Amino acid sequence: MMTETVYLNGEFMPLEQARIPVLDRGFIFGDGVYEVIPVYSRHPFRLPEHLARLQHSLDAIRLANPMTDAEWTRLINDLLARHAGEDQSIYLQVTRGVAKRDHAFPRESKPTVFMMSSPLVTPAQDLVDSGVPCITAVDYRWLKCDVKSVSLLGNCLLRQSAAEAGATEVVLFRDGHLTEASASNVFVVRNGKLLSPPKSHLILPGITYDVVLELAAACGVPIELRAIPEREVRSADELWVTSSTKEVLAVVALDGKPVGSGKPGPVFKTVHRAFQEFKRKIMRAAA
Ligand code: PDD
Repeated sequence: MMTETVYLNGEFMPLEQARIPVLDRGFIFGDGVYEVIPVYSRHPFRLPEHLARLQHSLDAIRLANPMTDAEWTRLINDLLARHAGEDQSIYLQVTRGVAKRDHAFPRESKPTVFMMSSPLVTPAQDLVDSGVPCITAVDYRWLKCDVKSVSLLGNCLLRQSAAEAGATEVVLFRDGHLTEASASNVFVVRNGKLLSPPKSHLILPGITYDVVLELAAACGVPIELRAIPEREVRSADELWVTSSTKEVLAVVALDGKPVGSGKPGPVFKTVHRAFQEFKRKIMRAAA
């Protein structure tokens, strides 16, 4: 059994030895951003896109990127080489570092950089085949949901309500329109057309969201990115959630009522198959 190795501020070390000072602004204010990058067959998936989103998040919180993309790539590959799993989930976090507690930014601070790797756990085949239940809630999070911020209290409270209801996710509505879920993007199928909200400050620009749109287009599925009223979600033929860890997963019940036929639908099956094929192609290319 390998001791889990993590990266903290320039060094690799066993997880048990990784420490940050209590005045780190990530701890005190949630002042930081993060990424979750899936690794298939020891190959980080869509790494340039994840690093571009990291840059977007850092720019949004006015924090200089502590590393170049080449340095991030080297470190991520180094971290994953220190773990045995073929499929991993790399978590990285950058905070504004340690400073006397004051809401305004310190004049000078050194960002804290932390990275860890866990086994990538994608949905079991029976969940893919059966689909999952979800609940709904009002999206009461802030208005910068495009920033992958470590300040996730809203998301955690919402996700906990799903967990307590025995649901996989909570589908969110803001001002009567679909936004996303607590840790996933959401897609709707109506009359054979794939719908999702366009990217905006109200949703996280999911890397999986982009992949799903590309694959759906390649499969000839018509796509419409537009505001989706709640009633169109509640009367959808199909509903999906997507994320780096869930990939694409069918939602078959919403607030206890069946979605469409109550089973994963035909458009889901087409795009899910395309996603798995796409992964296999990457694995073959990496081998
Ligand atoms: N969450 N929306 C939210 C609010 C998310 O937290 C996530 C991902 C997504 C999907 O993004 P992507 O396809 O790039 O994973 C959408 C990650 C997995 C997490 O916080 O663990």
